[in-house]
Amino acid sequence: MPVEGSPGAARGSGGRDDGRPGDGPGAAPADPLLQERFDATIAGNQRIEPRDWMPDGYRKTLIRQIAQHAHSEIIGMQPEGEWITRAPSLRRKAILFAKVQDEAGHGLYLYSAAETLGADRADLTERLIEGRQKYSSIFNYPTASYADVGVIGWFVDGAAICNQVPLCRSSYGPYARAMVRVCKEESFHQRQGYELLMTMMRGTDAQRAMVQDAVDRWWWPSLMMFGPPDGDSPNSARSMAWKIKRHSNDELRQRFVDMTVPQAERLGVVLPDPELRWNEERGRHDFGTPDWSELQRVISGDGPLNTERVARRRTAHEDGAWVREAATAHAAKQAARAGQAAREQEGVGV
Ligand SMILES: [Fe+2]
Ligand SMILES: [Fe+2]
Repeated sequence: MPVEGSPGAARGSGGRDDGRPGDGPGAAPADPLLQERFDATIAGNQRIEPRDWMPDGYRKTLIRQIAQHAHSEIIGMQPEGEWITRAPSLRRKAILFAKVQDEAGHGLYLYSAAETLGADRADLTERLIEGRQKYSSIFNYPTASYADVGVIGWFVDGAAICNQVPLCRSSYGPYARAMVRVCKEESFHQRQGYELLMTMMRGTDAQRAMVQDAVDRWWWPSLMMFGPPDGDSPNSARSMAWKIKRHSNDELRQRFVDMTVPQAERLGVVLPDPELRWNEERGRHDFGTPDWSELQRVISGDGPLNTERVARRRTAHEDGAWVREAATAHAAKQAARAGQAAREQEGVGV
């Protein structure tokens, strides 16, 4: 179990962990000063670092969130990756290649961040391919045309920006720092998507219809990416009190809608929500309610492509076994050589 025996953790033994901020493991850290120091660090908007003492609930919540985030980046390579061989030009192929590779990099930063909490990367991958750990619901939808590449960049990477920019101020240092670079790359992803759609909208009627069709299919699933409404998201309040998460699901969803509506107008597409309108009083857009039963179905494994996405990840993992074995053998050989050289050096010194 990765959560147990984590490095740098001074733990209490047993006891309750109801997850309230301020509760240490068993509500009794070896030294009450540790809890006090942790609380003061959070209250002062400072960062918790891997060597610092932290409550078990904080560590477990972070491992779960970072692992789900990492899995989403890696599974998220699939819907668009399928279009690399079918890109309409060399330029589009190079852009898409770069984007999909970036997502792999995001996954790797995040698995590394989880490792600083004592998680084991191989164990997290096992959990993903055995269906015991989740990833973002959005990647279980199919990509029907090249316009989907543009709409994913615009909506899905746009939603990722709304979610991740506040995470640059997350209370856990390694997670927050990983987000800084990730957000810069997400911004490129969003722009390439929007630019592709702009190009298609200047094209033929058929191209414009492809864009509108992709917008119609991806709009509601994109709104669902922010998670259930605040009232049905019991863990959110705890994550916000720990400053892991800085805004509620509904607030982030609202920001996404407010950001996207003027972009849709400029592009010349219609967002498929008859209730969408500007609310002068609130200074924000009103919008309809996503089908939460659909989100429930997709996150519980019954989305259009859940089985295929996980199966593909499992095959890729199994196909890569020889690479991991070779890398491990190479690292052992290098370490043995370095040890031998050090011993010889000592021998010379004597
Ligand atoms: Fe990403
Ligand atoms: Fe991205």
